[in-house]
Amino acid sequence: MDATDLDPHAPEFLAHRYEHYSELRERCPVVWATQHGGFWLVTDHASVLAVARDNETFMHQYLPGAPDGVDYEGICGYPRHPDLPAQGVSEIDGPDHQELRRALTPAFSPAAVEAQRPQMEAVATWFLDQIVESGTGDLVLDYTSPVPAVLTLAMMGLPVEHWSRYAEFFHATAAHPQTSPEFAAVMAHAPAMTAELHEHALRRRAALGDDVTSLVLSLERSSGPLTDEQVVGVMWNLVAGGIDTTTALVSWGLYHLGTHPGDRRRLIDDPARMPGAIEELLRYYCPSESLTRTVSRDVELGGRQLRKGDRLWLIWISANRDPAVFDRADEVVIDRDPDTNPHLAFGLGGHRCIGMHLARVEAAVMLTEVLRRIPDYEIDPDGFAPYPPSMLMNGVVRMPVTFTPGPRIGPASAPF
Ligand code: HEM
Repeated sequence: MDATDLDPHAPEFLAHRYEHYSELRERCPVVWATQHGGFWLVTDHASVLAVARDNETFMHQYLPGAPDGVDYEGICGYPRHPDLPAQGVSEIDGPDHQELRRALTPAFSPAAVEAQRPQMEAVATWFLDQIVESGTGDLVLDYTSPVPAVLTLAMMGLPVEHWSRYAEFFHATAAHPQTSPEFAAVMAHAPAMTAELHEHALRRRAALGDDVTSLVLSLERSSGPLTDEQVVGVMWNLVAGGIDTTTALVSWGLYHLGTHPGDRRRLIDDPARMPGAIEELLRYYCPSESLTRTVSRDVELGGRQLRKGDRLWLIWISANRDPAVFDRADEVVIDRDPDTNPHLAFGLGGHRCIGMHLARVEAAVMLTEVLRRIPDYEIDPDGFAPYPPSMLMNGVVRMPVTFTPGPRIGPASAPF
């Protein structure tokens, strides 16, 4: 098989995408998809890894009207919504990207993240306190969505009291198709949010603080200072990257533990298994399912000849379920050895997720708090709703639960 007319935007494809990936991995892991102007669909672990490692050949950048005549389209591979800024870390390449990553790294190192653990615990405790006495709640809307939103805004120095606007925006834009009225309604908030980021950047330009926005502003690039627009792009990327991805990971984690009592018991009895369990949840549920690249020079991949200017769709979740690399690839093996779990849920190479340590610790804190305080939660199967099938985000819209009520343990007023 050389080419396929499978259409990744078609509802039929999306509903059965994992079966399609499985077949493609076996028959033609780097295949030419003829729809939408043509692009390469890359599904096996070895090829996805090779692409992710080579950022010079397989570029991220959003560069309309590039001097070499190639229309580089950035990380999602289709024209962005006019109200959204270009994502300032994900969609640049080369020295500018490396300098930006170097400037941001101190805020995202394992030690910096570990120092935030008490704050993460306080915020997780607060949101569980809001439901714990009632014995009922929605673990997505009341917990996994708000906690990362508060933590991300605090990290950026943005007004934390606006957390629900950000949580709802990133949750709803992922939960609804781009053509739906719900998507349009929520997208209407984008200009106000971008303006808020801009105002905050201006305040920090006048007086730097100790937040990540100040770190972005203090970047000294060899190509000159970042413009306001670029600063807002970087901030948007960090806010967008930090919120709904972690929400999705923890939501699926709670879903899995809520539907697999044996795995839940194992983690309650032996919390040391939590880090390995999180790697396995990342592998299997892979919240960011795929991203795109543009080919910058003629190159061979998986025995196929790719040409400069070709588009390429990298399917992280398919690589993560490649049976050539993972035993029992199609199931969650909660105690899979993390040393033999080379999943690609955070990507790889120069653009590998800058927030991966943060996401891991946030997830561990949030899952542990639930297992400690409401260990017998039961998911209402009729209320549970995953995101509609999509190539981009794999998350949960809502997850109503009931549990044995317990006491509040945190302060009477919000710790943020
Ligand atoms: C479970 C949670 C998360 C998942 C699954 C995830 C996934 C990813 C993936 C797949 C990439 C692209 C890598 C590539 O193209 O090679 C990425 C990049 C990125 N992520 Fe995350 N992410 C998560 C959490 C976070 C957090 C907490 C932050 C920050 C607050 C963050 C910020 C970013 C940024 C800024 C980039 C762009 C990095 C670059 O292009 O250099 N992410 N993430």
